[in-house]
Amino acid sequence: MTATTSPVLSPNRISASGERFRAARRQTMQLSKLLTPEDMMVQSCAEASPAKWHLAHTTWFFESFVLREFLPGYRVFHADFAWLFNSYYESFSAFPEKRLRASFSRPGLDEILRYREHVDAAMEQLFEQEPAAEALRRIELGANHEEQHQELLLTDILHAFFTNPLKPKYREQGSKGAREQENREQGSEGARELPAPLGFLEFAGGLREAGHAGNGFCFDNELPRHRLWLEPYALANRLVTCGEYAEFMADGGYQKPEFWLSAGWDAVKHNGWRAPLYWSGVEGDPRKCEWTVFTLRGERPLKELAATPVSQVSFYEADAYARWAGRRLPTEFEWEAAVEGQPVEGNLLDSGEFMPVPSTNLVQDENGAKHQKQETTKYYGDCWVWTSSAYLGYPGFHPLDGTLGEYNGKFMSGQMVLRGGSCVTPARHIRASYRNFFAPETRWQFSGIRLAK
Ligand SMILES: [Fe+2]
Repeated sequence: MTATTSPVLSPNRISASGERFRAARRQTMQLSKLLTPEDMMVQSCAEASPAKWHLAHTTWFFESFVLREFLPGYRVFHADFAWLFNSYYESFSAFPEKRLRASFSRPGLDEILRYREHVDAAMEQLFEQEPAAEALRRIELGANHEEQHQELLLTDILHAFFTNPLKPKYREQGSKGAREQENREQGSEGARELPAPLGFLEFAGGLREAGHAGNGFCFDNELPRHRLWLEPYALANRLVTCGEYAEFMADGGYQKPEFWLSAGWDAVKHNGWRAPLYWSGVEGDPRKCEWTVFTLRGERPLKELAATPVSQVSFYEADAYARWAGRRLPTEFEWEAAVEGQPVEGNLLDSGEFMPVPSTNLVQDENGAKHQKQETTKYYGDCWVWTSSAYLGYPGFHPLDGTLGEYNGKFMSGQMVLRGGSCVTPARHIRASYRNFFAPETRWQFSGIRLAK
């Protein structure tokens, strides 16, 4: 990887880059404030990493790809950190096996926090020295990278707390906590939330373009923008709810191979799946089962969440549900064409809910009568939507040059695309062309279902 010579950059661009950097760094610390040092050590499943590792690895990214190349005289904080906190960049250095991250009791949390301070201070020096254009591009990438790890930090701690017998809560309440409390005090009749009626929005299709447009930041996998053909299609006006998913289960969804792709049915049998990842219940007939759902705000009875979007399902489960419902999953391009040009609105990290919420609530007027509050269709937030699209490079795709070319491109096999962000995705991070990707059996992310036909 080589630094390119830069033209003179405007002070505004440098100051915007500094603000972007600081905001991302602050947000990570804010999210980890609610965790104890012991919480930060837990790595409870193969996909997850300890929170402490996230704090260090995001710092490593700036040290490795920005400071070492662009800040003259930069002294690394610790020589071993260069390989210790490398995640998967083969061309940068060797790195420890992912499953060993829970063994990193050393360096201690204090030392990791000092590492963050050391790198943050050096970055401030860089901002004072008129960084090269390539440095600013990498800082933008580093801020976006840190935001991805903010989401991972929360999904990983959710799994950690789910496996803890005490079932701790990451947060007591969401931003609408007071309203929820009020509803609970009114009793179950007053508090019941109903989903918006399921409807489908029609789209004409035709010749469309997909991929990132404009001058704003995007990842390399969102490019190049290219033309494609869409047949007429329709998308559901909301995500599938927990209540609807429970009907699929009650109808033998996990017992009938006819709903499942072959690899999905294998996964059901091999893993003993009988419900979404964080649903717990007694064994036996799912119709008689009193399910609970574990969230970042603790364990909730399923009946309280009947109108809430179902989350933590794999691609296979999403696909099986759609087949059972007589529908299908959207392609990533159908989703993008429907959403392009719409404002980024929805239940994202900034809403402060930290879990999916119903798309429509029952609201009570001044006379005590209950009405359904209709909301316009929101495509962003709550849960990432599994699409039926395999994660592949767009026509003419080129990964970034050098080591950073390993960021996205090398994962373009055996993964499915997800769109739209979740309740733990920072709002500034998501856009119409954004492509998330995971293996089809993945369940620990906030991943849900939007039907198409
Ligand atoms: Fe990373």
